[in-house]
Amino acid sequence: MIDAGAGPGSLLRSVLAAGPACAAALRPVAVDRAAGQRARHPDTVVSASELPPGPLVGVILANELLDNVPCRLFQRATDDWVEVLVDLGADGTLVETTGPADPETTERCGALAPAASPGDRIPLQDRAVAWLADALSRLDHGRVVVVDYGTTTPALAGRPQQEWLRTYRDHRRGSGPLDRPGTQDITVELAVDQLHQVRVPDEHRDQARFLRAHGLDDLVAEGRRVWAERAHLGDLEALRARSRVSEAEALVDETGLGAFQVLEWRR
Ligand SMILES: C[S@@+](CC[C@H](N)C(=O)[O-])C[C@H]1O[C@@H](n2cnc3c(N)ncnc32)[C@H](O)[C@@H]1O
Repeated sequence: MIDAGAGPGSLLRSVLAAGPACAAALRPVAVDRAAGQRARHPDTVVSASELPPGPLVGVILANELLDNVPCRLFQRATDDWVEVLVDLGADGTLVETTGPADPETTERCGALAPAASPGDRIPLQDRAVAWLADALSRLDHGRVVVVDYGTTTPALAGRPQQEWLRTYRDHRRGSGPLDRPGTQDITVELAVDQLHQVRVPDEHRDQARFLRAHGLDDLVAEGRRVWAERAHLGDLEALRARSRVSEAEALVDETGLGAFQVLEWRR
């Protein structure tokens, strides 16, 4: 199992701590391009800066990776599209500017968001698309699973950019994306229709449905039973059971994490 864009490796840590029935067959690999994150990977996993070379057998999981991959921004002008670029302002700070898009890109933008009005913006997420194509090409047998804030290009065109291109600093919303580069994360909601250029996913559902299809309700029922039996003891087992129930509620909350999109491509 490969966790791509693993950050500090929390997901694999939790998978291993859960002691799944398939544990003996798992060869967990945490991939992150940031050395600071790799330094925090647990010793029980292989830590790497890039996806291992293929052919691979297994699952490549990308949880909140593709929203983090750089994209280009385009804005609908009266007759065509222009690219949103960054320049140096007179006072040395970064400022936004626009430049012409080449005819091929203009055509692509028009095809992705045909109803866009002047001033509407869209991201072109070619690097996310390239990551998916690369991940799939390394698989001999298995699947690529992408979990992210997913939407579509026409939906993004219909919303203001500051809603879907967000910044975070210390787990709180940050300021403008050009402020103090390198001090905040920049994230862009994933246009899943652009990933279809590689291949339409074999499965596409929200996180709540994905987790339920993989047995979340049974795990919650077991948690409730253990909590009911052991609440009066208040021991570690009882507390673990209670947090399983509350964490599951957060993960399937359709107004929050439950609305995340899960896309799966099989090979
Ligand atoms: C938003 S974090 C997600 C971390 C983790 N998956 C989670 O859900 O908590 C994205 C991570 O992807 C890493 N990253 C970004 N681009 C990457 C790439 N092309 N290959 C590997 N890691 C990448 C970043 O360094 C960062 O740690």
